[in-house]
Amino acid sequence: MENITKINLGKNGPLVSKLGLGCMRMSSVWGSPVNDETESIATIQAALDNGINFINTGDFYGAGHNEMLIGRAIKGRRDDAFISVKFGAIFYNGQWLGLDLRPMAIKNFINYSLVRLGIDTIDLYQPCRLDGSVPLEDVVGTIADLIKEGKVRHLGVSEITADQLRKANDIHPVSALEIGYSLADRQIEKDLLPTAKELGIGVVAFANTAEGLLTGNMKAPLAASDYQNHFSRFQGENLIKNLEKVEILKNMAEEKGYTPTQLAIAWVNAQGSHIMPLVSMSKRSRLPENIAAMQISFTADEINTLNTQFSPGAILGGTYLQR
Ligand SMILES: NC(=O)c1ccc[n+]([C@@H]2O[C@H](COP(=O)([O-])OP(=O)(O)OC[C@H]3O[C@@H](n4cnc5c(N)ncnc54)[C@H](OP(=O)(O)O)[C@@H]3O)[C@@H](O)[C@H]2O)c1
Repeated sequence: MENITKINLGKNGPLVSKLGLGCMRMSSVWGSPVNDETESIATIQAALDNGINFINTGDFYGAGHNEMLIGRAIKGRRDDAFISVKFGAIFYNGQWLGLDLRPMAIKNFINYSLVRLGIDTIDLYQPCRLDGSVPLEDVVGTIADLIKEGKVRHLGVSEITADQLRKANDIHPVSALEIGYSLADRQIEKDLLPTAKELGIGVVAFANTAEGLLTGNMKAPLAASDYQNHFSRFQGENLIKNLEKVEILKNMAEEKGYTPTQLAIAWVNAQGSHIMPLVSMSKRSRLPENIAAMQISFTADEINTLNTQFSPGAILGGTYLQR
């Protein structure tokens, strides 16, 4: 059953679903527990069955575990999926050590990814971050070479600045920008989003729920074991004030007959035909709710309320996105 609208990723780019499936939380990244593998694979397959073909991973999500899960899920149905892979992050025992973006490292990373995914070509390949340790020309140039070789179809970038986006696109056309974006994190509206639009680059927008804040399920204080405690947004007075803002979203959701998560996704979806909400789902039960969110429209008054109440800076404190 095909329920999801397809869009071009970038100017004349490949056709992908307007809702993407983020697989990160199926594996252990920052020491988080691994979700049920059978359910994760079933979720990827159910997403494909529902026309969600954009599948997002990183080679460092669970040290290759995530790619192996996807490989198992797409076995025998490669053409149903559009596989987006990030590389470059070096983790050790759940700790971030830094980036390795050397051409030699990229060539090593991709061969391992292709084996774990069980495919010959990655549809969208992108450095997860840039840190200036390797000239952009060399990072992008290496991916351009991989495109010529047939190991990669399209160039993507992730979490970069507007200047870096422009420069990367000058070296080789960028199909997609992967970036954190939600009602709670709107800083990219100033420079980055207008630049992506001007250059005709698709926007793959993740963290729509802002680490769960916009699901409406959080209560202050968080349990001591919750990973969100690391971020100032979820600490002390910040969390109390932020949850007051979330009440506005909860009330609107209740009036419209949806959940706060659905409105959070719908708001991102409404920001443009070139913007794809990329949502983590580790269980099949998430799919109907999040797919239905793609049909939600807002009145001008509702959008005005959300944009005013969640104006840039209205949510106090940050997450790793402000790094
Ligand atoms: N480029 C980057 O730097 C970067 C950084 C982070 C993430 N990403 C990518 O973006 C994807 C999404 O990012 P994210 O995980 O940070 O944000 P998210 O999509 O906001 O997901 C956060 C949490 O929301 C839960 N969720 C999903 N649907 C829900 C619903 N209807 N009701 C309540 N909770 C719901 C998910 O739970 P379950 O897992 O339990 O279903 C997940 O744990 C990742 O999977 C990854 O592929 C990229």
